[in-house]
Amino acid sequence: MSLPPGPNAPAILQTAALMRDPHGFFERLHRRHGWAVTIRILSEGRIVSVADPDWAKATFANTDALSAGQAANTLEPIVGRYSLLTLDGSEHLRQRKLLLPPFHGDALRGYEDTIRQIAAAEAAAWPLRTPFGLHAAMQRATLQMILRIVFGVDDPALLERFVTLQHRLVRLANVAVLPARLRADVGGRATPGGRFHAAMREFDGLIGAQISRRRAEMAHGDHEHAPDVLGLLLQARDEDGTPMTDTELRDELVTLLVAGHETTATALAWTFDLLLHDADALRAATDAARSGDGAYLEAVGKEALRLRPVIFSHGRITQREVTILGWTMPAGTRLWAPYPVLHRDPALWDGPQDWRPERWLDGGATNGGAAPYSWLPFGGGVRRCIGAAFALLEMRLLLQEVLAAVTLEAAGPPERAVLRNVVAAPRRGVQVVRTA
Ligand code: HEM
Repeated sequence: MSLPPGPNAPAILQTAALMRDPHGFFERLHRRHGWAVTIRILSEGRIVSVADPDWAKATFANTDALSAGQAANTLEPIVGRYSLLTLDGSEHLRQRKLLLPPFHGDALRGYEDTIRQIAAAEAAAWPLRTPFGLHAAMQRATLQMILRIVFGVDDPALLERFVTLQHRLVRLANVAVLPARLRADVGGRATPGGRFHAAMREFDGLIGAQISRRRAEMAHGDHEHAPDVLGLLLQARDEDGTPMTDTELRDELVTLLVAGHETTATALAWTFDLLLHDADALRAATDAARSGDGAYLEAVGKEALRLRPVIFSHGRITQREVTILGWTMPAGTRLWAPYPVLHRDPALWDGPQDWRPERWLDGGATNGGAAPYSWLPFGGGVRRCIGAAFALLEMRLLLQEVLAAVTLEAAGPPERAVLRNVVAAPRRGVQVVRTA
């Protein structure tokens, strides 16, 4: 057994350092201890973090010895037994094949109008000359996008009920990840466990009714409804011609909400934070928004995801003893590939610390001019983020609608990151002022 060396600090201090400053934590860690490091994080245990594209590639490819589902299993009380996040092997592949078509090419184009409408309505509601938090605004917009485009909810009163309940569940999310004993459904609303399960039941009830409603609408040949993911999933069939069960549909809808809402909101918040502190890029992006130059706006989003990755790594757990790049790890070891370090490695990037959206134009469109496995905000391999193209579309269209409609100025210095759940979020919520 040969695990890489690492800091001697107790797990609680290493965890606190990661939570306080997730981007800086990995940069300091690998500068001090080298490209391969073993750390200890509370509730996760021993983790091997290796800042090397070959390591990232190997951890994506070795689906036999490494489990992604197990690394995400604390989410199961929320996302359920059939979630794409928590399944492995053939079960994962089956769900993934069913979920892919609604997130590809033609289907994505069908969502554009709704994304634009939501972005324009959000920007129109911002106050003039009064500072407000842009991260919260992005959370509102991306929640609407998931509920309307993924869940297919179009009734305003029903949308409101979903939003209220989602907020309640976010407040109770820390209960969901407690050990089973502590989140038991006892004591009614007097205990955190009881409150969590009551909210979850109410949420499941709303989702169940939404699935039935969309199924009935589809059966009656409803062509009024804007294109939505649920509508496509209701028509999906696996290789045996079997449709998804209601439980599978419920679990995947919740999965898409959990994986796709806060991530995209945070990516947008970072994008605005970087743009609003660079007058030249802001001018270029505003011109691009007015002239409809989507390529530059997409480049801005990709560069923001490079410098401020929202998720700091994919996670895998070794299922047996396994050797990768010379390190032999026992069964049960967690593996990370720290994106904040890979994304700024001088051996991989030209001007790694510079904010330079142009690197994503022309020849750099897929990887910013860097080698494969250097830019991984969406992970990779058979578990690569299924919503990556959808997220980039949401970012591009929202940037376009907002920058073409309003003038924003930063109301504070550039943000630093703090870890909220699993997302590296801007600490002060990106305070901005609308000046015109
Ligand atoms: C900027 C926004 C987003 C970021 C940074 C992001 C990042 C990621 C990352 C790092 C993974 C893990 C990949 C791995 O384990 O190898 C992932 C997986 C996933 N993401 Fe995203 N994501 C974003 C938006 C979305 C959206 C909008 C959706 C759907 C609406 C979504 C749905 C998923 C799902 C279902 C998975 C699990 C895929 C699987 O295990 O097969 N994500 N995402």
